[in-house]
Amino acid sequence: MADLTTNFLGIKSPNPFWLASAPPTDKEYNVRRAFDAGWGGVVWKTLGSEGPPVVNVNGPRYGAIYGADRRLLGLNNIELITDRPLQTNLDEIKRVKADYPDRAMIVSIMVPCEEQAWKDILPRVQETGADGIELNFGCPHGMSERGMGAAVGQVPEYIEMVTRWCKQYYDKPVIVKLTPNITDIRQPAAAAMRGGADAVSLINTINSITSVNLDTMSPEPSIDGKGSHGGYCGPAVKPIALSMVSEIARHPETRGLAISGIGGVTTWRDAAEYISLGCGNVQVCTAVMTYGFKIVQEMISGLSGWMDEKGYTSVEQVVGRAIPNVTDWKYLNLNYVAKAKINQDDCIKCGRCYAACEDTSHQAIAMSADRTFTVIDAECVACNLCVDVCPVENCITMEAMQPGQVDPRTGKVVQKEYANWTTHPNNPGAVAAE
Ligand SMILES: Cc1cc2nc3c(=O)[nH]c(=O)nc-3n(C[C@H](O)[C@H](O)[C@H](O)COP(=O)(O)O)c2cc1C
Repeated sequence: MADLTTNFLGIKSPNPFWLASAPPTDKEYNVRRAFDAGWGGVVWKTLGSEGPPVVNVNGPRYGAIYGADRRLLGLNNIELITDRPLQTNLDEIKRVKADYPDRAMIVSIMVPCEEQAWKDILPRVQETGADGIELNFGCPHGMSERGMGAAVGQVPEYIEMVTRWCKQYYDKPVIVKLTPNITDIRQPAAAAMRGGADAVSLINTINSITSVNLDTMSPEPSIDGKGSHGGYCGPAVKPIALSMVSEIARHPETRGLAISGIGGVTTWRDAAEYISLGCGNVQVCTAVMTYGFKIVQEMISGLSGWMDEKGYTSVEQVVGRAIPNVTDWKYLNLNYVAKAKINQDDCIKCGRCYAACEDTSHQAIAMSADRTFTVIDAECVACNLCVDVCPVENCITMEAMQPGQVDPRTGKVVQKEYANWTTHPNNPGAVAAE
């Protein structure tokens, strides 16, 4: 059986599934139940300093985007950090950690960008016996207007400075949680590294307005007729997060930095994808808010079954496996040629592939009088749109042509040799391949 235990920054947990800092980790009652359900670790809902109390809205905090089957694809929230007293949280963290010593307990913190504020809170967190801290430099609403959260995460110099304070006043691992509301994610990651961070975690939520109520002309969720942007998360954000994770994992300045992957993890497969792109573990929020704590059991059995099937005996063996295959566009093999193929037995004759290809792409699908759809190889550029719009999974596939075959579209023989834009004859500035 595959071993799912992970050792992230020296913090051991029985599996790579941690709960992200959010309502599911807001209190002892929740976290105990999460651990009982099998979660490997938690990042406690963000604690603030003992300044002015945190006051949340008393109207709807969440908005959602649904698929056609009303499955929740994206969640938007305008919630702040914890509104429970600091000492209550610290007492609970201490008790839970003592009772679950084999689980990872990370405390998320967000206090003003002043050295004294960090100097005050860190010894109190240290005293709980928690395994590490996560710096919330990502919250995009409310707290950022007070100069915290994303307001820090968007300025690499601040990230570096605060991280350095934390390394000075706290002697366990420091994870810096990054905001995706930035142009180049490698910059804040590199700043965290310069400040001495042990790891980065990403992503926090993405600035969003999920919808506008066209009767009241107010963005949703609407509080007494007015709305404000919130933070977007859930399955819809996973592709954005995966790309950002891979950028950090392969950037020369940040390569090797430990990463905790967050954003839309709903199944074991999502987790395996994050891990393959260099994450030592994953954190989950929306999926657990949608389906409850027990989904971790599916994640555990799914990941372990897949690892057994593939012959991986430890999570460590999967970490970063896909990274060598993430490259820049200019290094893609331009001699590779594929063509779409429609499986007539599976086709339900809906014609969506035809409409998409005929109206918007390459006119590479023919429709007969009896609605049989066939690919015209001489026109097909293998763009994949037909596969993407087809409602029947695997009905349309992309088939690679073999070297020596003639591509009916270009009339050229498919080459065995690897070719990319750097060396391609059509590139006027072609240089020798690296
Ligand atoms: C209601 C809600 C509250 C959140 N509160 C926090 C928070 O206090 N601190 C924090 O770092 N992230 C917070 N997050 C962000 C999550 O930790 C996580 O980064 C994000 O939701 C992406 O993961 P997901 O797609 O699995 O939800 C919150 C998210 C939600 C939905």
